[in-house]
Amino acid sequence: MTEHPVSALEADAEERRLEAALRPRHLDEFVGQQRVREQLDLMLAAARLRGRTADHVLLSGPPGLGKTTLAMIVAAEMNAPLRLSSGPAIQNAGDLAAILSSLTEGEVLFLDEIHRMSRPAEEMLYMAMEDFRVDIVVGKGAGATSIPLELPPFTLVGATTRAGLLPGPLRDRFGFTGHLEFYAEEELERVLRRSSALLDMRVDSDGYRQIASRSRGTPRIANRLLRRVRDWALVKGLDTVDAGAASDALTMYEVDARGLDRLDRGVLTALCTVFGGGPVGLTTLATAVGEEAETVETVAEPFLIREGMVARTPRGRVALPAAWEHLGLTAPEVAPG
Ligand SMILES: Nc1ncnc2c1ncn2[C@@H]1O[C@H](COP(=O)(O)OP(=O)(O)OP(=O)(O)O)[C@@H](O)[C@H]1O
Ligand SMILES: [Mg+2]
Repeated sequence: MTEHPVSALEADAEERRLEAALRPRHLDEFVGQQRVREQLDLMLAAARLRGRTADHVLLSGPPGLGKTTLAMIVAAEMNAPLRLSSGPAIQNAGDLAAILSSLTEGEVLFLDEIHRMSRPAEEMLYMAMEDFRVDIVVGKGAGATSIPLELPPFTLVGATTRAGLLPGPLRDRFGFTGHLEFYAEEELERVLRRSSALLDMRVDSDGYRQIASRSRGTPRIANRLLRRVRDWALVKGLDTVDAGAASDALTMYEVDARGLDRLDRGVLTALCTVFGGGPVGLTTLATAVGEEAETVETVAEPFLIREGMVARTPRGRVALPAAWEHLGLTAPEVAPG
């Protein structure tokens, strides 16, 4: 099995396959996100009662919180076929036209990473979303003509990790926008209970709590840690995972009590011990850890910032008191710099 560093936010092909098995299929199995779930439930129920296609749905939020899962649920709840594509796969308007013109009535079109679609495709999408119509341009230059094409009503479900990057006109054309938040530990415990039942493994309540508290508010990570604990239990011949076993297993995989992994701790340690708590530039910090600047910035930093351990300042990265405390170090008397 492939190893995933816990802080890798994205899932690779093998993990996506494993995730598919744990994915809730219906809204009532989807844990947490109560407001989004209730609003979506109401909207889909109303569409079903009217016998109409549901409004377009935009889902935003950090990786691993359930955007793809919800998109699939929308199709399942509407009993509609689902078509999957993504912003990066749509290079030009023609690619989008090909997808749109082959949709069937009521179909759910899921566009992942919709903020990465090309500009011309985006403009074609405006019209398709609003009027269920596209203009297909045939020919080039002065002889080019555009042929209008009627589309069957469909539901677009767009997902983005960066709602801020979506142009206003696109955002405005979604009838429903749901922003997914990080999960509370109690919700992650419920995700874990559900997953462990599917994986046929036994975990006691303290065991769940232990795994949930290291999962960074993210179901993808909770499921990933659960699989590691499951390997551990299998090899150690444990029948039931308790808090001690979960903690030992995750410590062996270098996931600490707050969910920091080796990379996160490497960054913190370098920041505090090599650079006295900063401020230090990203590239310099990354070099000290032996990582690419981009990895430090996109993989480790967002979590460290969210945990209140690191701050980005105009002069560079600085360690906050929680960082020193977590490493068991004493912060220098005078604020650095
Ligand atoms: N609310 C939830 N209840 C139960 N499981 C969940 C929930 N949300 C997510 N999961 C699980 O977490 C994993 C990741 O979810 P999903 O693929 O939907 O995330 P995503 O937001 O689309 O991430 P990305 O931005 O990387 O595409 C899946 O295996 C899914 O089963
Ligand atoms: Mg996804």
